[in-house]
Amino acid sequence: MILVTAATGHLGTATIDQLLSKNVPAGQIAGLVRDEKKAEGLAAKGISLRKGDYHDAASLQTAFQGIDTLVFISSGNIHDRVAQHRNVVDAAKAAGVKNIIYTSVLKASANLKFTAGIDHYHTENFLKESGIAYTSLRNTFYIEVLPGLLGGALQNGQWYYAAGNGKANFAARADMAEAIANVAIAPAAHANKIYEIAGNHSYTFHEIADVLSKVTGKTIQYIPVSLDALKEGMKQAGVPEAYIPMYAGIAEGISIGELDSNDNALEKLLQRKPITLEAYLPKVLGI
Ligand SMILES: NC(=O)c1ccc[n+]([C@@H]2O[C@H](COP(=O)([O-])OP(=O)(O)OC[C@H]3O[C@@H](n4cnc5c(N)ncnc54)[C@H](OP(=O)(O)O)[C@@H]3O)[C@@H](O)[C@H]2O)c1
Repeated sequence: MILVTAATGHLGTATIDQLLSKNVPAGQIAGLVRDEKKAEGLAAKGISLRKGDYHDAASLQTAFQGIDTLVFISSGNIHDRVAQHRNVVDAAKAAGVKNIIYTSVLKASANLKFTAGIDHYHTENFLKESGIAYTSLRNTFYIEVLPGLLGGALQNGQWYYAAGNGKANFAARADMAEAIANVAIAPAAHANKIYEIAGNHSYTFHEIADVLSKVTGKTIQYIPVSLDALKEGMKQAGVPEAYIPMYAGIAEGISIGELDSNDNALEKLLQRKPITLEAYLPKVLGI
């Protein structure tokens, strides 16, 4: 039995759909959900629902009973995520889960400038210490999040950002979901492995601006700015003060290569080329 956590999130739902499309019977798939109403679509596909919350250790231990393979999708709530993830790994061990497939971040380490990513470093350590066979899929940023870095660039043609000349690699969430499903179907082949999950090409932000220009038909120019200027711009745009250091950390991380990868693990797991930025951006931008 495979259980997918965060089943009502984008990646969880897409992973379940991939498992079904690869002929895993619905009766062999469960979804961990917080709100069963939000999961009516999953239930309609024949997926069994197990109620649980990463904050509630007892709920997880009950939910994980009889599960062989746990697809552990990282929490969308980053405020106390390390404690939430500790609960998940401890409950999996207590329930006798045999394999855990975890969604981490590219180049997870204790020193990331993208500070939210450090949670993944700690979680990978919990996995290693647990003795459960684990696979860490270190996902780069989704192509779907790229529009969130653009500010007003699509409107005024000028993309002010603080990535310097750093390169970044974005991949489609759908490809990541398919890679997770492929690992979940044959976990033994990937036991105790860590994969850097990225597209086949890293881009400078000048190059991304060229892609944006091509797909929108508008000239969009990337204008590198300092981190302080980026922070000030976010403040003026009304970004809540509490989030500004984390968003600035993403830019700083990109400027020093935290999202730069030429690893082809995603292509190997998919057994085909990943979707490219050029092909997928129009869909993401609704063009
Ligand atoms: N690589 C990237 O670019 C990127 C971007 C954003 C996020 N992420 C990370 O990747 C994960 C999956 O991405 P996504 O696109 O599926 O995100 P998403 O659609 O925002 O889903 C987040 C999921 O986390 C669940 N969650 C939040 N708090 C929880 C808790 N206390 N207990 C149990 N579940 C909880 C949510 O449950 P509900 O459905 O009940 O709300 C939801 O299913 C995210 O959670 C985040 O850790 C990666």
